[in-house]
Amino acid sequence: MIAHRKDDHVRFAAEQQRHLGGHHQFDDVSFVHHALAGIDRPDVSLATRFGGIEWKVPLYINAMTGGSEMTGAINRDLAIAARETGVPIATGSMSAYFADASVAETFSVMRLENPAGFIMANVNANASVENARRAVDLLQADALQIHLNSLQETVMAEGDRSFSAWGPQIEKIVAGVDVPVIVKEVGFGLSRETVLMLRDMGVRVADVAGRGGTDFARIENDRRDRADYSYLNGSGQSTPACLLDAQDAGIPVLASGGVRNPLDVARGLALGASAAGASGPFLKTVLDDGVPALISRISEWLDQLEALMTVLGARTPADLTRCDVLVRGDLREFCADRGIETRRLATRSRSHGTTHTTIGNFR
Ligand code: FNR
Repeated sequence: MIAHRKDDHVRFAAEQQRHLGGHHQFDDVSFVHHALAGIDRPDVSLATRFGGIEWKVPLYINAMTGGSEMTGAINRDLAIAARETGVPIATGSMSAYFADASVAETFSVMRLENPAGFIMANVNANASVENARRAVDLLQADALQIHLNSLQETVMAEGDRSFSAWGPQIEKIVAGVDVPVIVKEVGFGLSRETVLMLRDMGVRVADVAGRGGTDFARIENDRRDRADYSYLNGSGQSTPACLLDAQDAGIPVLASGGVRNPLDVARGLALGASAAGASGPFLKTVLDDGVPALISRISEWLDQLEALMTVLGARTPADLTRCDVLVRGDLREFCADRGIETRRLATRSRSHGTTHTTIGNFR
């Protein structure tokens, strides 16, 4: 049953990637162009640090799969690409392993193929502390992701209908595992209120996983025979909206959900994320074109991110939070309703004295 669901998710998610388009709120975020960037390419370092975690690059392959023969093969391919490019990687939910230990290898193949990489295990918020530990042990994981997916469960015919235990259980898992815990959504986004609650539970990092890419309402609707919830397709907050909402929430955040290219990575970092992740786009590449194509694509993203940071005068990912950005359209309306000041983002480099405002006469 679980294995079948995992195969469905991969199939429908890959299909969605083929039909993505339309307005995207990342496009409501643009950088003010300053023609004197003031730095050279070798000045740029992609390294990022947040919540006691250190990554060489601010890009990761986010949670997807495992639990069936087909998804084990995908995990192997993703892990090889992560090893070759040095990006961190997460497995999909490990519930299938808790239900049937014989599928362990469909997850542990990630560690086998990527012995020195940064690997995140993934569980749901109902997982027992013992299972959370088993997940970390199986992968010798460097961090544990807990996913929040109430909308997905609601549309899933066989999904959970009880969510009250999630908060208390997250606190228990945080206290019971000895790796950092990252709590993530699955494509509907984390609100500021949720991020603040997670912070107070001792969660180390919040991955907003917002709307704009893989849509699990649509996937679960596609899996239903009848009486669907298609009116929930496209629900939730976009990733840039979540990042703006969570500014200064006192906990590091990650940008994922609808990240399409290196510019979206830079936008996510500029809106305060410590790193950006993608799932659907990388899944499609590996399924359609194979591991070498995924390695090339990730390498290209990293190369172009460095190029973009150079032209923006940002030596580090954190420097991007001092670049001037304009927020327009629907996203600006969201900010107005949520009481988020956007005008100061458009001139913030002045108060920080970033490179282009401190070059001799051009101050
Ligand atoms: C996912 N995602 C996911 N997340 C999670 O925490 N546990 C999981 O088991 C899964 N499973 C899963 C399967 C497939 C096939 C996809 C494509 C995605 C959600 C994923 O981590 C991410 O939050 C969303 O996909 C949004 O990012 P993208 O796809 O828009 O980059």
